[in-house]
Amino acid sequence: MTWLEDSRTKLAATQLGPRAEQIGRVESIGDGIALVSGLPDVRLDELVRFDKGPFGFVQVLEPDRVGCVLLDDVDTIEAGDTVRGTGDVVRVPVGPALLGRVVDPLGRPLDGKGPIAAGELLPIERPAPAIIDRDAVTQPVQTGLVVFDTLFALGRGQRQLIIGDRAIGKTTVAVDTIINQRDSDIICVYVGVGQKSSSVRRAIDAILGQGAPERCIVVVASSASSPGLQWIAPFAGFTMAEYFRDRGQHALIVLDDLSKHAATHREIALLTRQSPGREAYPGDVFYVHARMLERAAKLSKEKGGGSLTALPIAETDAGNLSAYIPTNLISITDGQIVLDTKLFHEGQKPAVDVGTSVSRVGGKTQAHALRDAAKSVRLDYAQFLELEMFTRFGGMPDARVRDQLARGGRIRAILGQQQHAPLRLAEEVSLVLAVQSGLLDQLPLPLVAAFRLALREALDRGAADAVRLIETTGTLDDANRKLIIETITACLQTVAPQAAAP
Ligand SMILES: Nc1ncnc2c1ncn2[C@@H]1O[C@H](COP(=O)(O)OP(=O)(O)OP(=O)(O)O)[C@@H](O)[C@H]1O
Ligand SMILES: [Mg+2]
Repeated sequence: MTWLEDSRTKLAATQLGPRAEQIGRVESIGDGIALVSGLPDVRLDELVRFDKGPFGFVQVLEPDRVGCVLLDDVDTIEAGDTVRGTGDVVRVPVGPALLGRVVDPLGRPLDGKGPIAAGELLPIERPAPAIIDRDAVTQPVQTGLVVFDTLFALGRGQRQLIIGDRAIGKTTVAVDTIINQRDSDIICVYVGVGQKSSSVRRAIDAILGQGAPERCIVVVASSASSPGLQWIAPFAGFTMAEYFRDRGQHALIVLDDLSKHAATHREIALLTRQSPGREAYPGDVFYVHARMLERAAKLSKEKGGGSLTALPIAETDAGNLSAYIPTNLISITDGQIVLDTKLFHEGQKPAVDVGTSVSRVGGKTQAHALRDAAKSVRLDYAQFLELEMFTRFGGMPDARVRDQLARGGRIRAILGQQQHAPLRLAEEVSLVLAVQSGLLDQLPLPLVAAFRLALREALDRGAADAVRLIETTGTLDDANRKLIIETITACLQTVAPQAAAP
């Protein structure tokens, strides 16, 4: 009789007798941190459960007590409450069910679209891929922003920092990059940490409204969330993005922003009485960000060839790149895009400071068509900036200098771009070809915007073959280059007939 056998095996497996269990007590609680005594065997990062319901995780171990960070904002917990270890770490749901959703760092929906049927739960802290499992960064991520794609190309698997003062378009640059992935195969995860709810709302509207929502996940821990939720948010975002990386797909994660995350880390450290170091940050803040960003990688063929690109954002104070967190992040990442307040207020948007920005690995991934066209843009532009400063004090520039100034002004005009209006690779190549071949030198600067607008349609009408070639292979042959130049000339004729006249 099977039920009898069944009961017997169950009975044999049942342990009778006393069971030892550790029960901790809350000694003090406040600001989302609980100091708990009586749990000598819990481990670092272990998930603990308060008997009143909420969860927390262990962040600090001391000989006679542990510091737990609460994962929810709760007023119900008081000193004397009981706590138990769970023997597990914090886990978040992963999988395709999250796509198109706005969730909190524990994967709970925030968009009112009902529960998420995620198949799997994975720990928020996972080891970064080993060296042997990695491959060189060789494929590009098209950002759709001319200044990045031509001067600071981004590769799949790269970590590129976006850094600058308050409110000068850091989020916009990252969001535009996500929007541009509507035509690619890259899955985007936007993590908002410690942001104002209104800023997060704007980012969500842009991403889900203009990007491809079916390939985006938004993870939000706003400034009103508990420090615990804010602390785990970037880790949770990485775990959600890694799911796709490990299945041979390509993913991009935006961390907006790590300065706020560092501040939360400092807050937790000070509340748990760890000794403060430079700028009152605890000594391990570098390690926290380094081990997190190491998870961005391009995997080898044997591991499926997937990639995870990271765009961490950091805020500076009065453009000070040598503060603690900015220098840390600059040294961890593979390049930085520096945004400049002065440029932003002069109307140059995106306000990229070309002199201090750099992309250390992306250059190799740039599409050939763009690389050939943009060969000397950087040098011409740098020379222009110097000349501009020099001639600002008057003087009579000779014809050669005047030409250089005219060219530089046009380069600056094409590097600027409206927000949420990413360009296709073919348009970027054509713009750069137009300015480098000198066709725009006579075009009055105020008309450059109109020319850009007209060019899009003109290309589709007059050079469809060339557009297709660039979009599919990233290359351009002589015949098609000629076709594009002809299209540009015709387009100039319509925008500014007198300027285009030979
Ligand atoms: N290319 C652009 N064209 C027009 N407006 C822009 C552009 N980039 C940014 N802006 C505007 O500048 C403002 C600030 O942008 P954004 O919120 O991206 O800055 P931020 O550096 O992320 O700010 P915060 O420090 O608050 O996070 C926004 O109102 C945005 O619309
Ligand atoms: Mg922002």
